[in-house]
Amino acid sequence: MKISVCGKGGSGKSALTSLLANQAVSRGLGVLVVDSDESNSGLFKMLGFENPPVPLMELVGGKKKLKEKMFQPNILAENHLSIEDIPPQHLIRRNGLMLISIGKILYSLEGCACPMGVLSREFLKKLRLGKNEIAIVDMEAGVEHFGRGIDEGIDRVLLVVEPSFESIAVAEKIKGLASGMNKAVSAVLNKIDSEKIAQKLEGELKIKDIEVIGIIPNDTLVFEACLEGRSFGGGEAFHAAGKVLDDLLIEN
Ligand SMILES: Nc1ncnc2c1ncn2[C@@H]1O[C@H](COP(=O)(O)OP(=O)(O)OP(=O)(O)O)[C@@H](O)[C@H]1O
Ligand SMILES: [Mg+2]
Repeated sequence: MKISVCGKGGSGKSALTSLLANQAVSRGLGVLVVDSDESNSGLFKMLGFENPPVPLMELVGGKKKLKEKMFQPNILAENHLSIEDIPPQHLIRRNGLMLISIGKILYSLEGCACPMGVLSREFLKKLRLGKNEIAIVDMEAGVEHFGRGIDEGIDRVLLVVEPSFESIAVAEKIKGLASGMNKAVSAVLNKIDSEKIAQKLEGELKIKDIEVIGIIPNDTLVFEACLEGRSFGGGEAFHAAGKVLDDLLIEN
């Protein structure tokens, strides 16, 4: 199963990606985390790696070369890819957790991020997973990835919603865009401090026909780890993410 984690900037996409990945590893699944956010670069630290993987963009010859070919249908040579096909420098491993990164914007005036969008889309479409493997894609903030078709190869869209008006608005937009691609969408509430806030948020999302499958509390362990750029496991948020994973696996 390939899951994309999306939502408003700062809502907790990377944190939820890490929590779900750690939960999936603890259940013995092969977990591939795909860093598809071209701006932020700290996901490898959240996952406990010392260094990031070499971006896949380098595998296809860099952004300039890919840009020349971006309107050709087959960007990666093979029709189907499995995790084993990804060269080791592009796929780093730690305790059953695997991480790849599509690419990052590094220089000013280097041009738009479209080639990375193309690469993300093609990679996710071609990726074939084994029975006990799961891919979790940490998306860029907002809705542009739908416009770029990055979610085409995704089985399930997970919306991260924090308690803010903007986050609900982005969730509604994503629901519409994902439904237009016939993708199943569910929401996970994040940074929740009270039952009252959870109910309010859940009510708002229900009106928009968005089902909530999990509630992740505002957890100091997550907050501090994010501040210090390190991994986190255990604690309330980790426990709550386990329930989200249960839900995802049941429906798989
Ligand atoms: N469950 C949580 N409990 C406490 N703090 C949290 C939680 N989830 C996220 N945060 C806080 O929110 C911040 C943003 O989280 P995160 O980086 O995961 O968001 P994001 O959606 O990936 O952001 P971006 O759009 O920039 O990629 C973190 O630095 C952390 O301080
Ligand atoms: Mg992020």
